[in-house]
Amino acid sequence: MPRRILLQFDCDDQPSTFDAVVAVDAGADVLLRHGGVSPANVAGLVHGAIFTRGGGDLASTAIFVGGSDVEAAESVRDRVVAAFFGPMRVSVLLDPSGANSTAAAAVVAASRHVGLAGTKAVVLGGTGPVGQRVGRLLARKGASASIASRSAERAGEVCRAIRAAVPGAVVEPVCPGHSLEAAVASASVIVGAGAAGVALLPADAVRAAREARVIVDLNAVPPAGIGGIVANDKAAPAAWNDRLLLYGALGVGGTKMKIHRAAIGRLFERSDLVLDAEELLAIGESLETTVR
Ligand SMILES: NC(=O)c1ccc[n+]([C@@H]2O[C@H](COP(=O)([O-])OP(=O)(O)OC[C@H]3O[C@@H](n4cnc5c(N)ncnc54)[C@H](OP(=O)(O)O)[C@@H]3O)[C@@H](O)[C@H]2O)c1
Repeated sequence: MPRRILLQFDCDDQPSTFDAVVAVDAGADVLLRHGGVSPANVAGLVHGAIFTRGGGDLASTAIFVGGSDVEAAESVRDRVVAAFFGPMRVSVLLDPSGANSTAAAAVVAASRHVGLAGTKAVVLGGTGPVGQRVGRLLARKGASASIASRSAERAGEVCRAIRAAVPGAVVEPVCPGHSLEAAVASASVIVGAGAAGVALLPADAVRAAREARVIVDLNAVPPAGIGGIVANDKAAPAAWNDRLLLYGALGVGGTKMKIHRAAIGRLFERSDLVLDAEELLAIGESLETTVR
């Protein structure tokens, strides 16, 4: 069995040390780290990976695409895949800034307590990299998702992108002032994906979420994104509503790490995987059935 080589392609000048440590912990024997990767310079790196090992040995080579610019990383992933041909390919994982694994973990957490198909959900900070993916994954699971933003235009753009990616998606843009408050009041699931350290929903507004069964706040930097949730909450009962369970960023973080590590492991099982948010959600769901 050849050694498992992971090529880390990062759009930032300095490739992420976080992603490097996870890769090693997840079983990569050799990690080749590249920073400053772009669609313009990645094809040569891919050719170096696919022209060295042949046949079944290619499954022991894989690519991780990351970086803090999620759109740039998506473009790199697309160029990586375009450089493959026939059997000359290796498996690829896209998880820039942890956006895909974090969104998948949030949806897995919510789905422990609420059947997502047909349920009403609100994604606060729904225009950021994580929020966009939470909205897309909720739509894929059949939830009716309100995408919240300070800008109706930005939220509308995200809804259009989700509808384009998920045929039949039921999504709507909401903004503070009226539509957000109404959406929160009727939602079963609320996910806070606002910027770090930004309070999006104060504690009194959370109490107005009388239908809520699960609230997830992904912000780990004080103050809380959603009032009344602390970072370590993991299915913690809300003091003000005995039917409501709370998750904080660290409460979801363990699931995120499991998904990230398991996804790296999957890369080495075959040579034709391209793992994005949807595939990470499926991995998260499979871990729920095997681990719990
Ligand atoms: N637990 C984990 O493992 C993990 C991993 C990755 C990320 N995270 C956390 O997940 C959250 C989302 O990450 P992200 O990168 O997607 O966030 P982001 O892009 O920094 O922000 C998300 C959205 O928050 C809104 N926002 C920004 N500043 C605001 C302000 N001052 N007031 C109100 N709204 C504001 C913006 O929406 P509008 O401008 O459209 O209103 C923005 O699109 C962050 O808290 C991050 O720390 C957690």
